[in-house]
Amino acid sequence: MIFNNILTNWYSIHKRDLPWRETKNPYFIWLSEIILQQTQIKQGLPYYETFISKFPTVKDLAEAKESDVLKLWQGLGYYSRARNLHYSAKYISSILNGQFPKNYKELLKLKGVGDYTASAIASICYNESTAVVDGNVYRVLSRYFNIETPINSTKGIKEFKILAQQLLPKSNIGDYNQAIMEFGAMQCKPTNPNCKECPLQDGCKAFALNKISHLPSKLKK
Ligand code: ADE
Ligand code: SF4
Repeated sequence: MIFNNILTNWYSIHKRDLPWRETKNPYFIWLSEIILQQTQIKQGLPYYETFISKFPTVKDLAEAKESDVLKLWQGLGYYSRARNLHYSAKYISSILNGQFPKNYKELLKLKGVGDYTASAIASICYNESTAVVDGNVYRVLSRYFNIETPINSTKGIKEFKILAQQLLPKSNIGDYNQAIMEFGAMQCKPTNPNCKECPLQDGCKAFALNKISHLPSKLKK
C-alpha cells in the first residue's frame, strides 16, 4: 500500500469524533482551523461550540461587536486571531456579499489566513489539491523520509510543501490532509511515538536508522 492510502485507512479507524469533522461548511471549518492553530483540541473545543452557537453564520459574526467577539475568545490567547476572524467576517459579508471564498487563492486573501489555513479549508470543503503542512506534517514527513532540512528554514518550508503536495491522493484530499495531521498528533508524536504498532513502520527511514528523536530538525534562532 502506498503512503497516503495507509494514512487514510488509519484515519478511518482511529480518528477522533469532533464536531468540525461532521461538516463541510467553510465558515465552520475556518473557525475550527483558526482556533486549532495555537490551541490544543481539548482546550479549543468548547470555544468552537460557543462561537458557532452565538454566531451560526459568517453574517452573524460580522454583525457582532468586536468587544463581544474578544470576550468570547477570552482564555485562548493570541487575540489577533479573534480580531482577524472578525475583520474577515465583515469583509466576506460586505465586499464578497456573504459568499465565502471558494478556492485556495481567494482564501489566502483573508486576513489571518495563510498557506496552512487556506489549504485546510480548500481541501476539506472543496476537495482542492492543496497540502496542509503543520507541525504534525513536518514531524511525520521528516521521520518517514529521513529529511534533515530544518523545518523553520526557508529551504525546509519549501521542500516540505513540495513533498506534501506530491503525496496527495487523487481523491478525498481533505480526509487525507486530516489523516496525516491526526496521525502526527496521535501516533507519530513528538516524544514516545508508537513505532511498535505503526502502519508506516515498514517504510519509515527514521525508524530503520534509529533517528526518530533527532527529527524533525530545527534551526536554533
Ligand atoms: N489540527 C488542526 N486541524 C486539524 C484537522 N482538521 N484534523 C486533524 N488535526 C488538526
Ligand atoms: Fe512515526 Fe515511528 Fe511510525 Fe516512523 S515508525 S512513522 S517514527 S510512529
